[in-house]
Amino acid sequence: MPKIITALPGPKSQATLAKSRQYEPQSMSDQVPLVWDHAEGVHIWDVDGNEFLDWTSGVLVTNVGHSHPRYVAEVQDQASKLINCYDFLSQPRADLAEKLVSITPPHLDRCFLVTTGTDATEAALRMARRASKGWEVLAFHGAFHGRTYGAASAGGSMGVKKGFGPMVPGFLHAPFPYCYRCQFGRSLDECDTFCLKYLDYLVSKESCDELCAVITEPYQGGAGSITPPPGYFEGLDKWAKDRGLVFIFDEVQSSFGRTGKMFAFEHFDIKPDLVTLGKGLGSGVPCSAVMGTSAIMDILPPGSMGSTNGGNPLSSRAALTAIGIIEDEQLVDNAAKMGELFRARFEAIQQKHEQLGDIRGMGLVWGLELITDAKSKGPDADLTRRVINNAFQRGLCVIAPIGIHKNVVRVAPPLIISEAEANESLDLFEAAFEAAL
Ligand SMILES: Cc1ncc(COP(=O)(O)O)c(C=O)c1O
Repeated sequence: MPKIITALPGPKSQATLAKSRQYEPQSMSDQVPLVWDHAEGVHIWDVDGNEFLDWTSGVLVTNVGHSHPRYVAEVQDQASKLINCYDFLSQPRADLAEKLVSITPPHLDRCFLVTTGTDATEAALRMARRASKGWEVLAFHGAFHGRTYGAASAGGSMGVKKGFGPMVPGFLHAPFPYCYRCQFGRSLDECDTFCLKYLDYLVSKESCDELCAVITEPYQGGAGSITPPPGYFEGLDKWAKDRGLVFIFDEVQSSFGRTGKMFAFEHFDIKPDLVTLGKGLGSGVPCSAVMGTSAIMDILPPGSMGSTNGGNPLSSRAALTAIGIIEDEQLVDNAAKMGELFRARFEAIQQKHEQLGDIRGMGLVWGLELITDAKSKGPDADLTRRVINNAFQRGLCVIAPIGIHKNVVRVAPPLIISEAEANESLDLFEAAFEAAL
């Protein structure tokens, strides 16, 4: 259980933070001042010896837990043999491609390996355009697909766009179903998924008849774990298929057990043409992929797409090992089971405190939207920041506030979390929340 032995941040942490402020741009993020030294499973130690429980998994990366012994041993062994061979073939790369094809639906029979989630987004967009006549892509307000120009342009998250323009042309943006704050002022019981119907209107007004693809996340993580209502993705899948569009599902964040299924698309009756993977795929060593149909991917001629580090032997072996651990230790089932425990505790807190306005999530990824009061539903960014700071002081590491209004607490522990660790972390959170109120 976490042990805090210095005032936070401790003296060594303060020195490292000062060094960073002197030499690094502060553009990255706004996390609590935790300087990580080492981590094991769900536990993190800072450079001063303070111990924390982890609700971050890095940022939804270390699904198998930090420094899993089997993972470390395989990575060490591979590092001693071969780390990079550019796009020459290696055994781990071919094995990983085979494995990923075997655990995804049969129509996704090709695997293209790259390094970051953003690389995967860019690759999927390029593939969709190359395989189609058109070049326009329908995307969503609030979406996050990465920070390079193509990925940021596809995204609807304004923080990565403002001041960086002009963006890449060819993207149309539609409202995403954020039912807690419906953009159309409707309620779910009477709207008949109006936001799906609105797509035709949007396309008729904004498209030059060049639409080739739709890109979406299964839930919008960065925008505040915004989770569409039942039936939405089935409707979107049909809408895309009726128009002959490539349906791109961005599972960079949601895959490898995170939502209580190996892939989030398994929650829905849909058939995406391209699925992007990242984060939990490598579970620490950077690795990402686009899974796709041979109809799309076999169009790409040699040399048209590749990368220096994509599919390198080290990341491929790390990803293969992470998938093996997820399967052998039944981490998908654990995420689903622990997820129910988290949901029940959050609902109990909500019963007591109206400021916990909305609870959204699946498996081990939750967004808790904090508000001033139930009547106005005013977003409370200050309360959110206080909760996260209080949690840090108590030994619980939580990612900086997310959401369009920065009033959402993100909960994403490693999938190996035990019931005792889950309960302890929830006790710490509840105490931090009540102190912040
Ligand atoms: C849904 C989604 N897509 C793409 C990305 C970009 O991934 P990366 O930061 O590895 O480039 C992220 C990262 O948070 C993400 O959550």
